[in-house]
Amino acid sequence: MAEQTFKIAVIPGDGIGKEVIKEGLRVLDHLAEESEGKFAFEYDHFPWGCEYYLEHGKMMDEDGVEKMRNYDAIYFGAVGFPGVPDHVSLWGLRLAICQGLDQWANIRPVEFLPGVPHRINHPDPESLNWILVRENSEGEYSGIGGRNFQGRGPGGEVAVQSALFTEKGTERIIRFAFDLARTRKRKKVTSVTKSNAQQYGMVLWDEVFARVAKDYPDVETDQWLVDAMAAHFVLHPEDLEVVVASNLFADILSDLGSALAGSLGIAASANLSPDKSAPSMFESVHGSAPDIAGKGIANPIGTIGSAALMLDHLGLKEEAERVNQAIADTTGQGILTRDIGGTADTVEITDAIIKNLSKVN
Ligand code: NAI
Ligand code: MG
Repeated sequence: MAEQTFKIAVIPGDGIGKEVIKEGLRVLDHLAEESEGKFAFEYDHFPWGCEYYLEHGKMMDEDGVEKMRNYDAIYFGAVGFPGVPDHVSLWGLRLAICQGLDQWANIRPVEFLPGVPHRINHPDPESLNWILVRENSEGEYSGIGGRNFQGRGPGGEVAVQSALFTEKGTERIIRFAFDLARTRKRKKVTSVTKSNAQQYGMVLWDEVFARVAKDYPDVETDQWLVDAMAAHFVLHPEDLEVVVASNLFADILSDLGSALAGSLGIAASANLSPDKSAPSMFESVHGSAPDIAGKGIANPIGTIGSAALMLDHLGLKEEAERVNQAIADTTGQGILTRDIGGTADTVEITDAIIKNLSKVN
């Protein structure tokens, strides 16, 4: 019996989600084995996703969210596959869990790994290290709105999609970003909105940001409009450290960030329930990539990096660092999947990461 056993709910989902989760579990198993009884993982696998939907007419069990409460963490692959509309798969599983368990903070580190061809004009890309903090419970993904007048015939339909910004929701994510910045080297938070055009919710956000900033005089602050920030990511990457934005904006900026760092395949993320009242969920940023699914070539780094975020959240901080170091060592040795310019397949790169893990022990 291990001193500590962590119960993990595993939801591989669809497409490459299944392939990369398998590799992430191999890394976790290796760590548990090496810990010689210090800790162990107990997994329960849930077959939820688009195949499940086609068979059962739902993306997950009706009491699925409640079932998740029995676990220390959730390890998630990706959902979405041709044949099931994306809004059905996303709302039926990933958003249902994030919102159901109030995982209101989504963090997405963007790391520039050695040996990975990046797309940025900076003399020392490895010195760049950003974390995007995404509001994960409301904003543009509140699901408020509707469609009407379908009966009017072609061209007559209307749709309304509203964004919800509560002062409470806005304040907690902004405070979270400031607290996170305090743990980092530069101690800087950049807030991103579009308050010139969206004069209600985003102006409230800006006001809350200014108010909260007063409580953190030791943290440097900056504010940008999202369109300008997209350019700033490319032109002045050294200016960024912690970037906080709404659900939609941070989603878009994190894809941009990971592409600049080399590939969507290397980006990790954590959907946190920060007060630990419910389990948090760890998943790569990318989707199910139907274009490469089943070929064994998906990059597992985003999912393995998400396992590192999970280890950190579970209190296994040293192990989390070791996993990140092993990933960097592996890419530094030129062992790369195709999306980042190499020839290794999903299993080969994971083998190398596991080998490097033993080395840094
Ligand atoms: P995607 O992230 O699945 O793929 C975008 C592009 O990046 C594709 O060319 C893909 O081959 C490549 N790519 C992504 N991950 C990779 C990896 N690990 N290794 C190598 N290449 C990788 O986004 P897309 O195509 O827009 O969406 C596909 C499906 O995934 C849709 O059904 C969408 O709704 C869903 N999706 C699910 C997400 C989630 O579960 N969190 C997030 C984003 C999309
Ligand atoms: Mg996204």
